Amino acid sequence: MDAQTFLNKLDRIPDLPTLPSIVTKVNNLLQDPDTSIKKLGDTIETDQAMVAKILRLVNSTFYGFISKIRNIPHAIIILGFNNVRNALVSVSIIKVFSEKNVFEGFEIKNFWRHSVAVAVTSKYLSEQSRLDSPDDCFVAGLLHDIGKLVLSLYFTEHFVLVWKSLKEDKQSFYEAEKKFLPVDHAQIGGHLAKKWQFPVSLIDSITYHHAIRKSVSNLNQLLIVHTANTIVNNYKGDLEMRPDFSMLDPEAKRIMSVQLETVSDWFPDVAAEIEEACEFFLKEE
Ligand SMILES: [Fe+2]
Ligand SMILES: [Fe+2]
Repeated sequence: MDAQTFLNKLDRIPDLPTLPSIVTKVNNLLQDPDTSIKKLGDTIETDQAMVAKILRLVNSTFYGFISKIRNIPHAIIILGFNNVRNALVSVSIIKVFSEKNVFEGFEIKNFWRHSVAVAVTSKYLSEQSRLDSPDDCFVAGLLHDIGKLVLSLYFTEHFVLVWKSLKEDKQSFYEAEKKFLPVDHAQIGGHLAKKWQFPVSLIDSITYHHAIRKSVSNLNQLLIVHTANTIVNNYKGDLEMRPDFSMLDPEAKRIMSVQLETVSDWFPDVAAEIEEACEFFLKEE
């Protein structure tokens, strides 16, 4: 099967996860420069369960706002249109996928733990380096590996082969999947993000997080997610680990040299934030 056939097959999956209609509505509203705070607020407030979750997220300690955000219009004023959309996407995405059954060997909790860890670390890197919007980076981190989930749900046979081979040969997922698939999880995730009409920068950050492409619409965001992923994988389960950044893209090393040099000083604090964020996102409802 070639790459195009594979993606066509993906497009024809009837129960491919769709985002809640409110996300699409909000995305459309944000494309119109005349959208008012009231209009956006009213739209989000039609879904009260969503409102409660967004407010819980933006008031959570790891989200980093001191002042209490009381309602959606207040959130829009304090955080801005785009960041409210980001909060909406963040709370929707895990829910949508958690409702599906996955291949039993693949632990979905661990998948989301990794995604949340990369999201929080991406946010931190962007705050410190001031290279991109922390909120955009959070969402890009949260979604970077979404293609793996798509594979496990809809291409289970391929996924099992990749999974076995990565356990047996001690390779990374990215290396193992090349043997069995015409496209990698990053491309699959990017394809889905495009279908969901996400911003181009987000699509690019997902698509190229392993194979950096310099010509993307927002290279800084891509490099932040790539770096956060590498940091998180380095510290997997052991904060005492001496990090190895030999696989990191040279440009990422250059623009985040300060953060990389001091990583063992700050990562334990970020790890604590990751725990809080996991509490928030992964707790059963
Ligand atoms: Fe990945
Ligand atoms: Fe990853």
